[in-house]
Parts: sequence; C-alpha cells; structure tokens
Amino acid sequence: MRKEVVLITGANGEMGHGLINHLHNKNINIVALDIAPLDKSLRPKVSTYIVGDVLDQMLLGRLVVEHQICTIYHLASILSTKAEYNPETAHRINVEGTLNLLRLAVEQSQWQGTSVKFIYPSSIAAYGVATLQEKASAGKVKEDECAHPTTMYGCNKLYCEHLGRYYNSYYRQLAVDTANTHTVDFRSIRFPGLISAETMPTGGTSDYGPEMLHAAASNEPYDCFVRPDTRIPFMVMPDAIKALVKLEAAPRNRLTQFVYNVTSFSPSAQEIFDIVLAAFPNAEIHFTTDEPRQKIVDSWPEDIDDSAARRDWDWAPDYGVEKAFNEYLIPAIKQRYRPE
Ligand code: SER
Repeated sequence: MRKEVVLITGANGEMGHGLINHLHNKNINIVALDIAPLDKSLRPKVSTYIVGDVLDQMLLGRLVVEHQICTIYHLASILSTKAEYNPETAHRINVEGTLNLLRLAVEQSQWQGTSVKFIYPSSIAAYGVATLQEKASAGKVKEDECAHPTTMYGCNKLYCEHLGRYYNSYYRQLAVDTANTHTVDFRSIRFPGLISAETMPTGGTSDYGPEMLHAAASNEPYDCFVRPDTRIPFMVMPDAIKALVKLEAAPRNRLTQFVYNVTSFSPSAQEIFDIVLAAFPNAEIHFTTDEPRQKIVDSWPEDIDDSAARRDWDWAPDYGVEKAFNEYLIPAIKQRYRPE
C-alpha cells in the first residue's frame, strides 16, 4: 500500500523551511516540490523532493498517480514586489498554479473517497485601503472588509481564496454524475508580514522588517524603503507555522469560514529600527523611501482582526513583539551570523 504523504509546494521558501522542520519532527512523510533544488539541510527531512513547476501538468499528473496525498500545503507563490515587475507571469504562477493544485486535490479526493485538505496561505495583500486616512480609521480589519487589493499578488490571493471556496463547495455543480461527492477541504489564512531568524524573504513588500534585522546582524548597511511611521502587522515564522498546522488539524465542523486572519503585533518601521539598534548598536540603517513600494504598504491595514481564528480553531500567537525579538529573533540571528 502506498503511504500517506503531505505535499508541500514552494518547499524551498521561508515557510517551506519552517513547515518541513515542523512536520519532520512529527514523523510525517513529506513530498516537497519547488522550482529550485531543495536546500541540502532539508533533504533528509523529506521522503521525496521534486524539482519542478506548479504549471507543469504532466508532473502534477504523475504526483497524483504516485502518492496518496492527504494534505496539500500550497506555498508556492510570487510575492507582491516581484509580481509587479511581471504581473502576467505572476498571475500564471499564482493563479494557474493554484488552479492546478486544486484540480490535483479534487482528483486525489475522488480517488481516495475522502476530502483532501488544501491549506492555502493568503496574505494581508488581499486588503486594500485607498488613503492613509482610511488606513488610520479602519482599525482592526475583518476578513470581509477592505477587500480591494492594489497589487497583482493581492488580487491573485483574493481570487484564489474564492477558487478554493468554489472547489470546496461548488465544483462541477451541474454534473449529472453526482455520485462522487468528495471534493477539496479548503482552508486559508491571511498572513501578515513574516519575520524569520533562519531565512530571508524574496520579493515581498513587508521585507523591510526582516531585512533591517538581518542586515544589522550581518554588519551590512541597510536602506529601509518605507517611512519610519509605516505600520503593518507582523508575525514570527514559528507562529506562522503554528497557525498553518493548527488550522489543518481543526475539526471541519468548527470552521465557520474558509479564510481566517491571523496576526501578532503591529510595529511601525521606526519601532523595528529602535529594537534592532538596541540589539546591534553599530547597525547602519537609513530610511530612503521607495515611493511605489511605500504605496503598496500604505494600502495594507495597520491591524487585522483575528477573532474568528481565535474562536473557531483556538488560534493565539506565542510571540508578542517583545518575546518575538528578545527570545526568538535576536538570539537566533546572533547565533546565525556571529556564532561564539
Ligand atoms: N509578505 C508578503 C509580501 O510582502 C505579503 O504577504 O508580499
């Protein structure tokens, strides 16, 4: 009999690293898919790693045949800044890639006679506020508010949330052969900006947070590309991984929605700067606003309301801002760049 596996796309990315480490510690069999060869440190932790594209239908077809997939974490994506350089390519990867994985999940569900879980990281980029005034007055934004994204990435995330809901509840609703009712068990989280001590993001617009910290720790000068008063929600990677696996494990009958906000703390760029400078007093950090990227961050809410996640699947972050920096980020980053 084939063994049950968890499929992770975008396995080489920041979340992939954290998730593979977590699932490996739980003895879960992992099939990792990424466009780049999996990091050497991760290879012993997965059953199989495949170098390939989420747009490669043949490859995905083979995955269906070769593995019994119980859960898909579809992490592969082009982030918000990078997507603006080639929006159509980003659309293909972010939307058509997701469609391909949803289709794969349906095939697996029908074949196995049980719903395959599809865990989809969405983003704060799914929101869009028009002005700084609106951003200030919006307060803690709920999942169904301010859904007017201004980036291709944000549009892609918002649309894929809807695709997931469609595949979960309405896929082939007019088909006559209704005997096979197993579709996809779709669950999504809108993440804030993420900060990890182990990895760096690539191509995002919340990257100024992690970049400031990693540059200071590695003695590199850094030009922060947003104004000091810029404020968006952030979360550390261990909490992001906790959210993914907690939502995956939640009983379906407790879930009242498909998409959930999660958040942890909302520092301004100046506050991140102050914390980083206190930890690394020689840090050379300046603020030089990059207007287009500033506009993107200005369109994201200052804070989001994660009460639905708290209610439905007992979500709560382990790290507030002080614990995040003092007990996780700063010690781990010092160890990474300046081991004693
Ligand atoms: N971190 C992402 C980005 O900046 C937002 O989800 O694109």
